[in-house]
Amino acid sequence: CPGLTAEVFGRKEYLYYQEIDSTNSQAKALASKGYPEGTLVVADMQTAGRGRRGRSWYSPGSQGIYMSIILRPVLPLKEISRISLLVAVAVAETLAEELNLPACIKWPNDILIDNKKIAGILSEVVTDMDGIEYIVVGIGLNINNQPQDFPSDFRTPATSAMAEDRCLVSRVKVLQGLLARLESHYLDLLAGRFAGTLEKGKSLSVVIGQELKLDTINGVLQGQAVDIDDHGFLLLRDQSGIIHTIMSGEITILS
Ligand code: BTN
Repeated sequence: CPGLTAEVFGRKEYLYYQEIDSTNSQAKALASKGYPEGTLVVADMQTAGRGRRGRSWYSPGSQGIYMSIILRPVLPLKEISRISLLVAVAVAETLAEELNLPACIKWPNDILIDNKKIAGILSEVVTDMDGIEYIVVGIGLNINNQPQDFPSDFRTPATSAMAEDRCLVSRVKVLQGLLARLESHYLDLLAGRFAGTLEKGKSLSVVIGQELKLDTINGVLQGQAVDIDDHGFLLLRDQSGIIHTIMSGEITILS
């Protein structure tokens, strides 16, 4: 990928497709064949882009960034939420620093501008007996989409860089900036330096301090988000004052 400033991400193995079903599915297939850390899969269009919770991701040709990267961190499984947070921080920083857009993080995986979703992250983890075998981090960014073209989804209104900025944006430039930031936060994590990323994640969070409804695998919780801890987990105080440590879930902001 010409012009990349990242040292590893997208440097060794870079696969570009004009059209593919899903970059995450393709990256998972490559990872299972042994493709190395930093392998980057990018598509101009996805015919079956996947979102979280079995949803689809709207992926029209030449408009968004649809990318997946293979990571092979030697980390305990409980550190997985740190990776989610660092990816969200890298995406939000890229939008802010490359395009001057005030992007925020709706923990754990949504990037919003003014309460509208501009990007989503789908991390898929495969484990083996030793812990994490690999993670495929998939990122979908709405860049040159017209907001009226988005399929209607009453849950989260969508936006794009062009809709916010009103001019055509270079997807290559955004992708390069994103890979450099992803790599830098990831190398910091591996080197035991997560504090800066965590502080950035907290400062960009739209959920801390808010009253939330949270759908988790263990049921629905309601309360106030009070913090994000050192593992990247959300701390939620319920009505009886009990603090719950949440690893993942689907948030509805009530206040
Ligand atoms: C979400 O918000 O639900 C997550 C959306 C993730 C979409 C990206 S687009 C690139 C990669 N390939 C996929 O099939 N999904 C992710």
